[in-house]
Amino acid sequence: MMNTPRSILALLLLAAFGLSQANGDTKPSAAITGSGPFADISHFTLRNDKGMELGLTNYGAMITFIRVPDRNGVFADVSLGYDSASEYINANKKPYFGAIVGRYGNRIAKGKFTLEGKEYTLATNNNENHLHGGVFGFDKRVWEMVQAGNPTILRYVSQDGEEGYPGEMSLTVTYTLTDDNEIVIDYEATTTKPTHLNPTNHTYFNLKGEGQGTILDHVMTLNANRYTPVDAGLIPTGKLVKVANTPFDFRKGKPIGRDIEKNHDQLKVGGGFDHNWVINRKPGDGKLALAARVEEPSSGRIMTVHTTEPGVQFYCGNFLDGTLTGRSENAYLRRGGFCLETQHFPDSPNQANFPSTRLDPGDVFESTTVYTFSAK
Ligand code: BGC
Repeated sequence: MMNTPRSILALLLLAAFGLSQANGDTKPSAAITGSGPFADISHFTLRNDKGMELGLTNYGAMITFIRVPDRNGVFADVSLGYDSASEYINANKKPYFGAIVGRYGNRIAKGKFTLEGKEYTLATNNNENHLHGGVFGFDKRVWEMVQAGNPTILRYVSQDGEEGYPGEMSLTVTYTLTDDNEIVIDYEATTTKPTHLNPTNHTYFNLKGEGQGTILDHVMTLNANRYTPVDAGLIPTGKLVKVANTPFDFRKGKPIGRDIEKNHDQLKVGGGFDHNWVINRKPGDGKLALAARVEEPSSGRIMTVHTTEPGVQFYCGNFLDGTLTGRSENAYLRRGGFCLETQHFPDSPNQANFPSTRLDPGDVFESTTVYTFSAK
């Protein structure tokens, strides 16, 4: 796959991946046929008894759409993305719409870490740093379809040395759509050598509907007393800093746009909010804790995020710039979507005081995140 010319890859995927053909049940979409290494590409729609729909594909293990009702029962797709594979592959910018990113979600400084006395050099793709698994991360891979339907189970086996990481690492992601309008994402991984792992889902949300303007009036609550400030390359300084009396205080809930243009050095480096918040929780207890709650006033749609992870990257689409056009045919404006990427903290392999992202042979990595939708 790595050596396949991009144009051929795009054509094969286009043939194999009929997003617009999604048929509203848990069966594969009708138009899916593939060949060669792409024979296994599928697109599925899960639907629950409330009529909520979740689109999934094993290309990048992506969420392709999320259709949920507003307070009047009117459904909208609240996740950003495209309706054809060629757009996912060929867009001049790839903001990781809907994808599982890995091995490491977010940044590792200078693409380097040391394990067992050996220094590893990763692919760098964000200036001098490593971002979201490197040049050819999990978001651009074809995942094995372990089980179609609800739940949908996807697996990706990352080779020893891939993007510079040690060990063959097998990651299984299970997507479940419940009748309580929850999307449950379970992650499980093993490795053949000590390595670092921090997978997450990179869906962009706009609870008004994708392509319906910016997310600045969404009311965001983050269950976090502290966040991890960053340097100019968006690498954490290593400090956990209190949000009190800063624009980073979302504990009581406020519109995303209220403080985003405030004169604060961290807002300058991030171009807005693009930081890791330290979730208020009992560390390492393996239980789900509230990370975030988001409410969109005009539709009444509400999303809550619970996770077993210690952190959440609240990224508010600062790097979207109106040049990408999504399913609605509307341009994705700057801050036209936000992500809540549940995770271990960025650059943990190089930060001794952050919770560890190391995975050893014989151990099983487990993580769960739940996105719940409602309206009022
Ligand atoms: C990062 C941003 C990055 C975006 C898209 C987010 O997770 O925090 O800095 O621009 O992903 O790549």
